[in-house]
This record gives sequence, C-alpha cells and structure tokens, in this order.
Amino acid sequence: MIIAIDGPTGAGKSTVGKALAKRLDYLYIDTGAMYRALALKVKESGIGLEDEVALFQLVSSIRLSFSAIGDEMHLFSNGEDVTHAIRSPEISRLASDISKSRVVREALVRMQRDFGKAGGVVLDGRDIGTVVFPDADVKFYLDADPEERGRRRFQEFSEKGLQVDLSETLKEVVERDRSDMSRSISPLKRAEDAILIDSTCLPVEEVVERMLRIVAEKRRWGEADRR
Ligand code: DC
Repeated sequence: MIIAIDGPTGAGKSTVGKALAKRLDYLYIDTGAMYRALALKVKESGIGLEDEVALFQLVSSIRLSFSAIGDEMHLFSNGEDVTHAIRSPEISRLASDISKSRVVREALVRMQRDFGKAGGVVLDGRDIGTVVFPDADVKFYLDADPEERGRRRFQEFSEKGLQVDLSETLKEVVERDRSDMSRSISPLKRAEDAILIDSTCLPVEEVVERMLRIVAEKRRWGEADRR
C-alpha cells in the first residue's frame, strides 16, 4: 500500500507517520526533509531563489537517500548526513520558499515517486495525496489548531536547545501555512478523498490507532474486491 499523510506545519505528520510506518513495517519517507536538504544546499551555495537555472543545476546534482540508523531515519544529501542540520527555523523558511519553484518541485516529486513506487510506504508532506501519489491507497489530512501547532514546534526547538520565542514560532507557523497554501504550484490542500484527522486534542497513539483501523479496513475491502 501507499499511504499519504498531508497537512500543515506542526500537525504531527512526521511523529505519526514514523509510528504508523513502524507498526505496519513500512518505509517512512519525510518529503519535507527533502525540500529542507535542498534548502540547505541553496544556503551553502549562496544562489538566489529567483535564479531558476542555478536551482535546476543544484537540484539535478543532489542525490538524496534515506537510511535507518538505529530507530531513526537519517537523510543523506550527496553522502552527507544532514538529518539534524536541516531542522532550524531558517531552513524551515527557506524550504518553504524554494518549494514554490517549478524546477524544484518537478525534480523532488520525481524522486518521491521513485522512493514510493514499490509500495509498503508511508509518505508525509503537503502534496502527496493530491500530486505525488493521487492514487494512494489511503490518504490522511492531519490538522490541528494553529496555536497548538505553534506550541509543538516551539517545544521541538526548545528540546533541541535552540533559542526561540513562542510568539515568534507561532507567527512563523502561520506564515509558512499561508505560503504553502497559497503558492501557485501544488499548494497544500486536502485531497477530496483524504480522511481528515484533527490532532489538536488527540494523543499521538490515538491518532496512530485510528489510522491503523482505517488502513486495516481498506485492506479488507481490497481483499474482498480481489475475490
Ligand atoms: O514538512 P516540513 O515542515 O519539513 O516541510 C518544509 C517545507 O517544505 C514546507 O514548508 C513546504 C515544503 N514541502 C512541500 O512543498 N511539499 C512537500 N511534499 C513537503 C514539504
């Protein structure tokens, strides 16, 4: 099966996605991390966001791969482990900015389709159920109130020892949603056939249990169809 989880920043997609993949013994692909890895390269190379030719060259030269180290999925960018370097507020903003570029999206969507085509995969992102895998077997749209999402992001940064301000973090979450939902190419939106789950008041385990029930139901339908 291909399972898509889309939704805004801080809705819990990666926590839930990882847990779901583990329970199903599936591969977990964090597509946001791919935009972040490219953003890191853009920052290091100093190229301008409006320079589509340079962006094209950069995205054509980047080799991304996921590999499990212990319990954690690590992302390698041209052989370098960037798992932790991509988790800063600056890279979050830059990833959202570069995600508006057509050349960037085309290249990353191609890689994501390649990663997921064999199935047995949970992908999280913004356009998985709408663009990357519009025929995904199960689609979820995970949402939560902006205040709660801002608080979660703040906690995440604080746990990593990053000095951030709660109201600033909340503002950035709202701004990034606005940017991701209003861009002209593949904006974040709920696919018509995506199942909405609001995680504002739900513990992670409950969200995962709900998803597992839906996946199991979908599997039963699939088996009944084949008979
Ligand atoms: O999920 P995340 O916060 O790590 O993603 C970082 C940015 O990457 C997000 O603000 C928009 C972009 N993104 C995207 O455009 N499409 C995806 N499938 C995943 C992320």
